[in-house]
Amino acid sequence: MTIVVQAAHPTVYGENGVVVAHDLEACNAGIEILKAGGNAVDAAVAVSYAMAVTHPQAGNLGGGGFMLIQMADGSKFAIDYREMAPGNAHRDMYLDDSSQVIPGLSTRGGLAVGVPGTVAGLQLALDKFGLLSRKKVMKPAIRLAKKGFHIPYDLAYSFGWLNRAAEGYDETRRIFCRNGEIYMPGELFKQPDLAKTLRLIQKKGNAGFYSGPVAEALVKSSAAKGGTITLEDLSNYEPHIREPAKGTYRGFDVLSMPPPSSGGIALISMLNMLEPMNFDSVGWHSAQHIQMMAEVEKRAYADRSVWLGDPDFFEVPQEKLLSKAYATLRMMDYDSLSITPSDSVYPLNDSDLAEIDLTGYESEETTHYSVVDKWGNAVSLTTTLNWSFGSYVTVEGYGFLLNNEMDDFSSKPGEPNSFGLIGNEANAIEPKKRMLSSMTPTILTKDGKVVLVVGAPGGSTIITTVLQVINNMVDYGMPLQDAVNAPRFHHQWRPDLINYGPRAISPDTAELLRNMGYELVPRSAYGEVNAISRDQIFGGWIGAPDYRLSSHAAAY
Ligand code: DON
Repeated sequence: MTIVVQAAHPTVYGENGVVVAHDLEACNAGIEILKAGGNAVDAAVAVSYAMAVTHPQAGNLGGGGFMLIQMADGSKFAIDYREMAPGNAHRDMYLDDSSQVIPGLSTRGGLAVGVPGTVAGLQLALDKFGLLSRKKVMKPAIRLAKKGFHIPYDLAYSFGWLNRAAEGYDETRRIFCRNGEIYMPGELFKQPDLAKTLRLIQKKGNAGFYSGPVAEALVKSSAAKGGTITLEDLSNYEPHIREPAKGTYRGFDVLSMPPPSSGGIALISMLNMLEPMNFDSVGWHSAQHIQMMAEVEKRAYADRSVWLGDPDFFEVPQEKLLSKAYATLRMMDYDSLSITPSDSVYPLNDSDLAEIDLTGYESEETTHYSVVDKWGNAVSLTTTLNWSFGSYVTVEGYGFLLNNEMDDFSSKPGEPNSFGLIGNEANAIEPKKRMLSSMTPTILTKDGKVVLVVGAPGGSTIITTVLQVINNMVDYGMPLQDAVNAPRFHHQWRPDLINYGPRAISPDTAELLRNMGYELVPRSAYGEVNAISRDQIFGGWIGAPDYRLSSHAAAY
């Protein structure tokens, strides 16, 4: 057997449907369901369950996600199945007696776990928008768990890493690391416990996960590692269908994830800030280009820190933040020749916001997949356990990991979380509140027809990754695969620096930027974009998997 270590998998073309996701088995699960008469939503649910088997770093039953749907009839929905804080969570739960954040408490172990939303979210999607039964769409995942799949190189690597990192998490090491006798690339990996859990969900739906033996084991496993999730928390979990965040960019309609993700609002506000700028004479990744993007990014992320949180708990001024008027106000102090240091970029205050007049003015280890079908329905879906393998807590006897999403709250207002993101009141911990996310599943349409389905993992960098793919295509005319593969850079206001991936900024460009006052910090490749666009020549779909993490695409 040839074991692939790193590959740029083919860009694909299909008229009847395309799936782009990390794992080939998951792509094939989606195509199998499309061929069986399912629509993009059925296929996305099948891919989600398959990814829970083949990609345990991020694909999940014990986490949450966002599913953005654009149906061919023009209707649009954002399904929010983000995790919630348990009922007895409280604002200072990660602080010691002197109000300092206790390292690790919000990131590993039972207290890091939010109430999982995935199973309920997928069920809601299927009930409202799918065509096929749960029994049918879960079949490929159950087969993969029961019969096994050959461990890809990157998964074997992650398991080896987990074996060292998850010391003391015996069930996790038993299931994923064979108690220390780690799996080699290419070995057949079967997950009978997970297959049992999937079959229970297949048979009973939400009741198979949120009550009964799985729920009881979940509560027990979380408690054994210091967690406080109760059976009541589980039975109370509810996904929501929300109105997507909407904007426009140079003639395209942009649809993205609303709060509790910050992604849609930050993405659309950055596009609004970029729209008045002319890229015609601005070289791609020139100092001027990077300056324009970085200045826009730091302004949007500054407002993210104050104005974004769970809309069920905090009044997010969504309409204002999405308006062109806000973008104009925000860019008043922008100077194309110089830097505005983050210390001088203040989040807008109440009176600034009051100035915005809406009259006259018309979104490390998460995974994203994109799915389209022959009718023109599209699903853009990002899902996560937060960090790779989440909290490290595996539900004993049931073979699945629990998230560490609680770290996406601000443990202490004003202090950065593990992605360096600052949050304040809007994202303080409260019982049953959803933690703020950066996940940005996005769809662009033109004249009501889908032209781009896009999203990415990467914590705080997700939003600027999606922004750059759109910028690459719309402003620099790149074909989809080039736009996906192109190197990227990132500014998030705090810390006040530009991170950039390999080959994203040439040394002479870096010199120009440093002379302007920017601090530049190189980093490894990030952001596995899995995207689909409408083919302009034959009218079908193009699926473009990111070469960075050897993603896959399948079509028919
Ligand atoms: O919801 C969020 O924004 C984060 N929990 C996503 C985490 C992530 O992307 C990790 N990945 N690389």
